[in-house]
Amino acid sequence: MVEKTNILEELERIKMDALSALAQVQDEEALQTWRRAYLGKSAPVMQVFSNIGEVPKELRRDVGQGANQVKQVLESALEERAAYVREAALQHKLTSEKIDVTLPGRKPISGGLHPQTKVLRRIFQIFAEMGFQVYRSREVESDEYNFELLNIPAYHPARDMWDTFHINQPGVVLRTHTSPGQIHVMRELAPNPVRAILPGMCYRYEQISARSEIQFNQVEVVAVGKNITFGDMKGTLNGFVRRLFNRDVHTRLRPSYFPFTEPSAEMDVECFVCGGKGCSVCKGSGWLEILGCGMVHPTVLKNGGYDPEVYSGFAAGMGPERISMLLHRIEDIRYFWGNDVRFRSQF
Ligand code: PHE
Repeated sequence: MVEKTNILEELERIKMDALSALAQVQDEEALQTWRRAYLGKSAPVMQVFSNIGEVPKELRRDVGQGANQVKQVLESALEERAAYVREAALQHKLTSEKIDVTLPGRKPISGGLHPQTKVLRRIFQIFAEMGFQVYRSREVESDEYNFELLNIPAYHPARDMWDTFHINQPGVVLRTHTSPGQIHVMRELAPNPVRAILPGMCYRYEQISARSEIQFNQVEVVAVGKNITFGDMKGTLNGFVRRLFNRDVHTRLRPSYFPFTEPSAEMDVECFVCGGKGCSVCKGSGWLEILGCGMVHPTVLKNGGYDPEVYSGFAAGMGPERISMLLHRIEDIRYFWGNDVRFRSQF
């Protein structure tokens, strides 16, 4: 015969057992395992319910009530523990996934302008302030524009000054300088005055070295009109150079030769590294050559559609890569078109 006190003691043991197991539960998974073990179908307290038929009639009420109480205690203990487990999980997440918003961020990589784009824009701006407009002409030229119309006939020894890339099609070349643009702009504007700069890529079939590349920029300057003098050229170019180097640099003009200008000259600026005393940058001379120039040759004026008896003009041509090299003391021209980010990101 089953003793009432025995069963109630048993229930008490079941309860204590379950509660002490519950106290060990630390996470959701253990919680579910506990629930199956102590409140699931085959849990000891549930067994009491299913076996209630074996309990003597007079004890059933007390045993049933006792089992019910235990079940309720376990259920509310479970709820409490579940709340505790969830709160602990949340706290753990909050501490382990903590973000330190005071940490400095990572700098995004941002693009920038090519050093030559910057120099060109600076040149454009200086000439724009002096009333010159930018005129673009083609990189693939005819022999006629690149040479003939610039007073360089086929047999002329001056052709040796420009080693030329020829294209399979006869009479087509990659321009060796921006000077053919002089003819284009004059033919477009004649007989109106011209104040233009012509920037762009030029190509020469040369041995690539630290000082010469097969492709490079030039900026041509052209002014055509009435009463334009050598003095105007000198004043314009001096004004340009002073703005470019941001100081009152000394310049000098040396006589030179170009088939399309007469007279021709080359302009030097006083070496801004040594101030004219002579150093490695100016190779001891105290001067840096920066451009070629001259008065537009009468034949070229005529080819451009201007009467050389009425009109005159000056032209100049400079290499912006060379200017960059001087400004930033870059020792090798190949850096410009070598596409090395380590070089380009310095500007
Ligand atoms: N075109 C010449 C060169 O490539 C430069 C130049 C331009 C000289 C205009 C005089 C006038 O060397």
